[in-house]
Amino acid sequence: MSTTDFTEDTGYTSSYLADQHAGQLARLRTLERAFDPLSQEVFNQLDLTHTSAILDLGAGAGSFARWLSKRYLDATVTATDIDTRFLADIPGIRVLTHNAATDGFPAASFDVVHARALLCHLSEREEILTRAATWVRPGGWLVIEDVSLQPSLSTANPLFRKVAEAGVTLLEQTIGSNMRWADTLAAGLRARGLSGVGQRTLEGRIGDNSLADAFWAATTAQAGPALLKLALLTQDDLDAMARLRADPGFDEAALTFVSAWGQVPLPE
Ligand SMILES: C[S@@+](CC[C@H](N)C(=O)[O-])C[C@H]1O[C@@H](n2cnc3c(N)ncnc32)[C@H](O)[C@@H]1O
Repeated sequence: MSTTDFTEDTGYTSSYLADQHAGQLARLRTLERAFDPLSQEVFNQLDLTHTSAILDLGAGAGSFARWLSKRYLDATVTATDIDTRFLADIPGIRVLTHNAATDGFPAASFDVVHARALLCHLSEREEILTRAATWVRPGGWLVIEDVSLQPSLSTANPLFRKVAEAGVTLLEQTIGSNMRWADTLAAGLRARGLSGVGQRTLEGRIGDNSLADAFWAATTAQAGPALLKLALLTQDDLDAMARLRADPGFDEAALTFVSAWGQVPLPE
């Protein structure tokens, strides 16, 4: 049984997903294993030939910032997070403690600004998106990636839907997350005047022993004590869900991983 200390505060840093949680680094590694190859594909299709400064906002455990520093050897990669404990020992990156909701950067500081699995969790997401676009130099790119849980909320399986609804309620109530916001990403970039906007949406499933399945299981396990404490689920529900996921006949869409990118226009 976990001994997570619950506070009355809401927000990512006081939640069951915060970095001080014992399982957080292992959970972030499951996220990186599932999504790094997908993020790399997005960057590889952008023309970033003359890139000298890249920002990875809310960089977490830093594997993607590390990849950026090796992929773009002439660029300075700045990795920020509100809690930088997992970024300390990564070579080749500049690490900055930075709260995306309240701290800024001078206008046009970066050729590329990237944020993954961050803005869906921050209630100030719309304002941060607007501000992040100003940190990109004209001609540079804003690349935002997030997870939508819409598929698990639409499942016909009653137990899986109950667990999904409880998980989304927990995220909304204790963090302020919006787990459908990813579906609006491309429209959000267009609304901010970006050009060349593109979007890619990929499905992640559970019950199939995939990398997305491992990420879903690690996140659900970490949420367990909070789900029980808030009476959103019972231990019987969690046990039944574990049995369902292990059932060879069960394999369902759980999430989509949405990537959207857009270019800050050059002056006329
Ligand atoms: C789900 S993790 C994603 C990490 C990383 N972007 C990735 O995809 O591997 C979210 C990260 O955002 C950080 N975070 C939460 N609130 C933040 C804030 N207000 N400003 C900056 N980072 C924040 C957390 O500490 C955590 O490392």
